[in-house]
Amino acid sequence: MSSSYNIILFLLNFCSGPTDKSITMSTAEKLVDVNSFIPVPIQEFAVGLSTPVDIYVKLSDDKYVLIIKAGEKATKERVHQYQNKKLEFLYIHEDSYHLLSKHTITIAGIAIKGDYPKKQKAKFVSQAASTLFNEFEHMGLNASNFRQAQEITKNSLTLVEAHKDILDLLESLNGCSDEVIRHAMGTSILAVLIGSAMGWQNASTMEKLSVGGMLMDIGLKVLPDELVKKPLTKMTMDEVNMYETHPYRGMEMATQLGIIPDDVVSIIYEHEENAIAQGYPRRLRGIKMHPLSRVVALANSFIRLVIPSVNNPNPKSPKEALNYMEDVMGQPHNPEAFNALKIIINNYQFQKF
Ligand SMILES: [Fe+2]
Repeated sequence: MSSSYNIILFLLNFCSGPTDKSITMSTAEKLVDVNSFIPVPIQEFAVGLSTPVDIYVKLSDDKYVLIIKAGEKATKERVHQYQNKKLEFLYIHEDSYHLLSKHTITIAGIAIKGDYPKKQKAKFVSQAASTLFNEFEHMGLNASNFRQAQEITKNSLTLVEAHKDILDLLESLNGCSDEVIRHAMGTSILAVLIGSAMGWQNASTMEKLSVGGMLMDIGLKVLPDELVKKPLTKMTMDEVNMYETHPYRGMEMATQLGIIPDDVVSIIYEHEENAIAQGYPRRLRGIKMHPLSRVVALANSFIRLVIPSVNNPNPKSPKEALNYMEDVMGQPHNPEAFNALKIIINNYQFQKF
């Protein structure tokens, strides 16, 4: 048994507390009457792991009941008990939410180096990303979750090494995360692959590409959920205009935080631009775009074609997407980056960075 597997076992049992004590609604005495709870989709609770935070069920808008204490295991029986009640969400208090993010990221960091099937590794990483995106949604971007995003991107890059080609990698993302996370992780990973195929080697540059891809759509978090989930073809002109403010909003959020490198802020602002001045929000020409934004904008555009979403119910294969970009879209992106993408799709073997 590998040492990493032992570490996972240790983490699973760490602070596991009294697992034979059944906590039911009637014995859970702690009724909390506050508004600062964050919903977490019930399927995202890793069954079998001890939870680092108290977990609640919502009874009404101002009543939450404690069902699993920090340190206890979220056993299959307990989680299923609430799934059977058709609850979609369990709740974590916002003061302790960062502990949940930290926990899932730690687990992902260990699992990624362990002897798990690659699908399982992708699931751990996307669970960590999902926890983090939930935190962005409810608490905004802050110094703590920005650092956690950096951690997750390191893990997502390790995923690349476990896959033989890009189709294999994208399929592993398709199976285990929601649309926004898949898109962010796919873009983050592909931007680094493109940078690498262009001959870039600097570790700091790679990290900026990766974090920029992961955070590029952070501005969507301040737009109405109904708008973000609406297909573009069904939006009114006003709705399209509002949707297209997301790079600017993201840039403002990142700038206000004060710790995000300027290069990453530029990626967030320019990830929907293209080389022929037909992107948004500023219709920049390629020459005016930040060099790292040129790569992320291409990765973003390509991932949009190959991953299922409300705007793309029938995703293309990577080769079809490449042809579509050339023949239908007129290849609107930076030529050097596009040539690197072609190399990746046609004959690139993933390597260590
Ligand atoms: Fe975007």
